[in-house]
Amino acid sequence: MRPIKVLFVGDVVGGLGKRTLLGLLPSLRERYSPTFVVANGENIAGGIGITPRLADQLFAAGVDVITLGNHTYRQRDIYAYLDERREILRPANFLRSQPGHGWCVVTRDDVRLGVVSLSGNLFMDAGRPVFAEADAALHALKEQADHVLVDMHAEATSEKVGMGWYLDGRVTAVVGTHTHVPTADARVLPGGTAYITDVGMTGPRGGVIGVKREQAIEAMATKMPVRFETSTEDPWLNAVLITTGDAPRRASAIEPVLEPAAPGT
Ligand SMILES: [Fe+2]
Ligand SMILES: [Fe+2]
Repeated sequence: MRPIKVLFVGDVVGGLGKRTLLGLLPSLRERYSPTFVVANGENIAGGIGITPRLADQLFAAGVDVITLGNHTYRQRDIYAYLDERREILRPANFLRSQPGHGWCVVTRDDVRLGVVSLSGNLFMDAGRPVFAEADAALHALKEQADHVLVDMHAEATSEKVGMGWYLDGRVTAVVGTHTHVPTADARVLPGGTAYITDVGMTGPRGGVIGVKREQAIEAMATKMPVRFETSTEDPWLNAVLITTGDAPRRASAIEPVLEPAAPGT
């Protein structure tokens, strides 16, 4: 099987994060020639959630699949869109009654990429157990995908590391999202699954995981409610580039892609 590349972009935060991604995408395409681009969009609507208009903009820019997380339902007008559009995913282990679905398959150049969105259970409000749902998703994708990418959206590093080992040898990649800070542990596990605990975020590094730092600090220091806005300082793109192996559902490499926004973003 011919190796392909998948660019996975960490949580896109606010309009600035969106402009950072869209501004860098042409040069990233030129440099890496990814067959697929997958982006986590759970913070793109002013820091919380996503709207149909913003999802359409990402798709129009060439993003193949959008994954989400705990902020999925913060914008009401996305609910119907989540049911209608195959290529936008909320965590698969949310309740079945909640809008949307947790996996999909996209095809390009005769390669079928399955993408699965999962939410951790530790310190997160996902309605169903994540490990059992990972098995169910892989069972559903059994004959349908040549490669599988899992976005494990979770707070606890232990749960993400555990999921990486649990799926090692069964999927092409397990990438962690949600904490917005990139970790230094990107590697291919012995079974052939590319893994990183957290990809990071695409947005303002000058804040506190996306929020204006003076507001975040005030909330933490005073223990009083504070209205949060998205920071406008020092936007960066945080992503990983995954190179698949010769065999189905195996990776040969994963490398962090950490870049400041293009000038004028
Ligand atoms: Fe996030
Ligand atoms: Fe999150």
